[in-house]
Amino acid sequence: MRFDAALSPAEIARLPKRDLSQTTCVVFDVLRATSSMITALAGGATEIHPVQTIDEALELRKEYPRAILGGERNGEPIDGFDVGNSPFEYSTMSGAKVITTTTNGTIALCACDHALRVLVGAILNIGALAEELRWDEPDEVLLVCAGTFEEFALEDAFAAGLLVAEFPNAELTDAARAALAVAKSNGTPLEALRAARNGKALVANGRGAEVEWCAQVSRYNIVGLMEAGIIRPLR
Ligand code: MLT
Repeated sequence: MRFDAALSPAEIARLPKRDLSQTTCVVFDVLRATSSMITALAGGATEIHPVQTIDEALELRKEYPRAILGGERNGEPIDGFDVGNSPFEYSTMSGAKVITTTTNGTIALCACDHALRVLVGAILNIGALAEELRWDEPDEVLLVCAGTFEEFALEDAFAAGLLVAEFPNAELTDAARAALAVAKSNGTPLEALRAARNGKALVANGRGAEVEWCAQVSRYNIVGLMEAGIIRPLR
């Protein structure tokens, strides 16, 4: 197994042109898109539809009129949507379909839609992700760190590094090695998330409890698998 990492939105923007036919992508947007998605699946959501724009979300809702419309722009709920992007809004979703659009997380997921497999990654499900990779044994794993707006996000690389650390004998590219170094040099998950730009902004906006939620290691034994643009629980 060889780990590589896309550490910035600029690299992610190039993924549609990259051959990912033999690659398993694990997409991290820890604050908060993928953390909210894992929380939603754990809360009983049956499908999550990540889309890139508000218009796409509204259009898709016509196809799924009972779906829950969620997401954020600039970290805040979108006017007219049912929920924002706080993981606390996704904890009770039994049987629901969710349509979501966020600033970086859904962009990153959509950029990988031609990959061999796409897994939804968070600190909340690191153990389940590692178990899945041990079972599936993909040759190539690309850790996709969604970032914030146009910039690198510490929390995403930290989570990617936590996953790399589960495979001490794996081959690592420089970028994967960098993610591992981030995970080893920023304290506990909560310390790292609180030190991150996104984490500081959330705390400043009174959303510190959400940062604490997203920092819980392996709270859920659940993996989200995206196929044909739809995320479902893998087990
Ligand atoms: C993102 O997709 O960039 C983040 O999830 C934004 C957020 O949740 O505030």
